[in-house]
Amino acid sequence: MFYSTRPGGAMIVGKLFLTAEQIQTRIGELGAKISEDYEGKDILLIGILKGAFMFFSDIVKLIQVPMDIDFLIASSYVRTQSTGEVKIHADLREDIKDRHVLLIEDIVDTGLTLNSIREMLLSRKPASLKICSFLDKKPRRKVDIDIDYVGFEIPDKFFVGYGLDYENKFRNLPYISIFKESTYAD
Ligand code: IMP
Ligand code: MG
Repeated sequence: MFYSTRPGGAMIVGKLFLTAEQIQTRIGELGAKISEDYEGKDILLIGILKGAFMFFSDIVKLIQVPMDIDFLIASSYVRTQSTGEVKIHADLREDIKDRHVLLIEDIVDTGLTLNSIREMLLSRKPASLKICSFLDKKPRRKVDIDIDYVGFEIPDKFFVGYGLDYENKFRNLPYISIFKESTYAD
């Protein structure tokens, strides 16, 4: 892990992987596709906190259909390892029955978190349930899960920034960095 400073003063943590500009360009494309797919529908966008807070706030601005928003607070990670146990710290306030739900997640790694959230939400009988994840760490998948909208496919490394944390730090960085070369190493 290392810090450096760019000319102009912006602090770079770790190794820069996606710049703020690259992120915004891709979100523009995702927003356009989602708007097209849900045309004529009213949707409920659910952000999974804390990780998705930044992605959520950027993508809502680019989705051009009527929507409500809600949030779930869930966690599964201790340090850099997924525990496979998902804790719901705060549930939704909205009733999702018969609604078109789009889940907004920061990253899918093993898939365990999203899979259990998905099952919990499906039992509440939404009209439809789709998933949009900013990052997809495919090589680490343990459960088969369909992700309808993916920002970027990424390798098996540990990333921080743009909402993603290491022990609750670095969520505020406007870019994505590689924090550790391996998900397994501490
Ligand atoms: P999964 O249950 O293994 O798919 O884990 C998903 C959750 O683990 C995400 O919502 C993140 O909170 C966290 N996570 C997985 N990979 C990373 C990473 O590279 N950086 C930061 N958090 C991660
Ligand atoms: Mg998360």
